[in-house]
Amino acid sequence: MSALFITFEGIEGAGKTTLARWLSERLRQEGIPSWLTYEPWEPRLREVLLEQGDLQREEELLLFLADRAIHTRHIRHALAEGKTVVCDRYADSTLVYQGYARGLDIEWVRQLNHFATGGLQPIRTYLLDLPVEIGLQRQRERNRIGAEVIAFHERVREGFLTEAGREPQRYLVLDATQPLEELQRALWEDVRWLLGHSHPPQAAI
Ligand code: TYD
Repeated sequence: MSALFITFEGIEGAGKTTLARWLSERLRQEGIPSWLTYEPWEPRLREVLLEQGDLQREEELLLFLADRAIHTRHIRHALAEGKTVVCDRYADSTLVYQGYARGLDIEWVRQLNHFATGGLQPIRTYLLDLPVEIGLQRQRERNRIGAEVIAFHERVREGFLTEAGREPQRYLVLDATQPLEELQRALWEDVRWLLGHSHPPQAAI
């Protein structure tokens, strides 16, 4: 059985954090070693990214990438130790938020992501998709980025759906308006399938 690298993506209020936590607990119950993590990851970079209100998009991009480069090193270690890594947001968030939504060149952001991660990609990305209005209603506006306008979040949603269409073998799109138990059932069915099959060693990419 190989250690998996799994990510959760979606707009704010989609339920990524809830499902990632649930999956990590479920893996623990099954006796499967795992590491539950999230981005932005490094505490000081996270604080700058989420609390500082006046970052330009280029500045934001570079800080997210710096954070990812550090984080990816730890993800690789965890995978090498045989831990399944469950990550709440990863490179696709940068592609979609800084590229699709904030307007930086998408192919260039893709290349920079590759540079920051050394090419480490999740074996599976769960995209929790739901209408922006529902996501924003669920979400209290906790920080600067979370408080951005509906049009911005529409671009984020569309960006994720476009990427999911581009890489259907990696992405699994889940309808996040479903009851939580349904989402958990679909998620676990897929993870169980992944655990039962061998995969290319992600960390060696
Ligand atoms: P967080 O408080 O973790 O919110 P959420 O529960 O929605 O994930 O904040 C993460 C915010 O940072 C979110 O608005 C998305 C944004 N973000 C980017 O813009 N680019 C990135 O590369 C990442 C990882 C996050």
